[in-house]
Amino acid sequence: MPQSFFILSGEHQDLAKDEIAAISKSYDIKAQHVADSGLVIISSHASWQKIARRATFVRAAGNLAGTFNDISEIEFPESDTFACRAVNLSSKKINTRTIEKEMGAVLKKKLGYRVSLLDPALTIYLVVTDNNRYVGYADVLEYKKPTKKIKYPTELDWKLGRCMVNLSRLKEGNTLCDPFCGTGTILLEAESMGIRCIGIDFDSKMCDIAKKNLAANGYKSGVINSTYNHISKIKGEIDAIVTDVPYGTASRSSMPPKKMIRDFVSVVPKKMKLVLVYKKGMDVDGLAKAKKYEIYRHKSLTRVIAVR
Ligand SMILES: C[S@@+](CC[C@H](N)C(=O)[O-])C[C@H]1O[C@@H](n2cnc3c(N)ncnc32)[C@H](O)[C@@H]1O
Repeated sequence: MPQSFFILSGEHQDLAKDEIAAISKSYDIKAQHVADSGLVIISSHASWQKIARRATFVRAAGNLAGTFNDISEIEFPESDTFACRAVNLSSKKINTRTIEKEMGAVLKKKLGYRVSLLDPALTIYLVVTDNNRYVGYADVLEYKKPTKKIKYPTELDWKLGRCMVNLSRLKEGNTLCDPFCGTGTILLEAESMGIRCIGIDFDSKMCDIAKKNLAANGYKSGVINSTYNHISKIKGEIDAIVTDVPYGTASRSSMPPKKMIRDFVSVVPKKMKLVLVYKKGMDVDGLAKAKKYEIYRHKSLTRVIAVR
């Protein structure tokens, strides 16, 4: 099975690993993953580009080709230019510049490609962990991030929104519903991945903002001015719910936050994938079996992402 590697950015390590695993599973249910320090290795028929284009907390990725020991046998793709990039994920101090220079010289001789440090068509990664010294490679990866035309104080950090969409294991052509869509952060991230979306918000002003934010990107997600109870009417059209419930302080809320979360969770069909973020301390029975990740913001705000 082909293997790909993902070097994590360092933010929210557990979330980051599970996000990559979830994306790969959305394309290939048999995908396997192992983590080695800040590196995640995926064995799957899903290409690394498909996963990397969506992953939030990844700083580099590519095909995993072998280790330093078998570098002479590795077959790299044809390219005009290349550069070596050494990454130290081990607990030891290592001179990555020296590795790049030495391995770069060996590879230049083997491949005959021109070195371009600024704009290589092919990047060869030399990744050192405490357990192994991996070699991987990647060509240029293009990805267009959605723009947010109108912002709002209660909006969700786009990175958390993107990661939550990925944890839902949806893929292109599936339909996501965000029943507390606000400015549309989750809708924007999901539609940028080819996922169809339906946003709901009980505040018509927030619906207008979400619509404008979607239109600014040429996106087509629908936004409905209603309460989360509207889910019952459209549940047959939805594959997963990904949402950011009101915390009760800044965002407008139609009832006390904990009561609302309990009621909202009870409206979501039991078998439907649900990913939601809420303020720590607002756990409800319906989320008892969910996998949870804590995100510390500041001393009075820790968020919980729950995946059910
Ligand atoms: C935390 S904000 C969502 C922020 C959004 N994720 C964003 O990035 O802009 C919660 C949203 O829930 C909406 N809301 C509150 N009560 C609601 C209800 N009963 N049904 C639907 N939406 C509701 C609020 O108008 C607000 O926009």
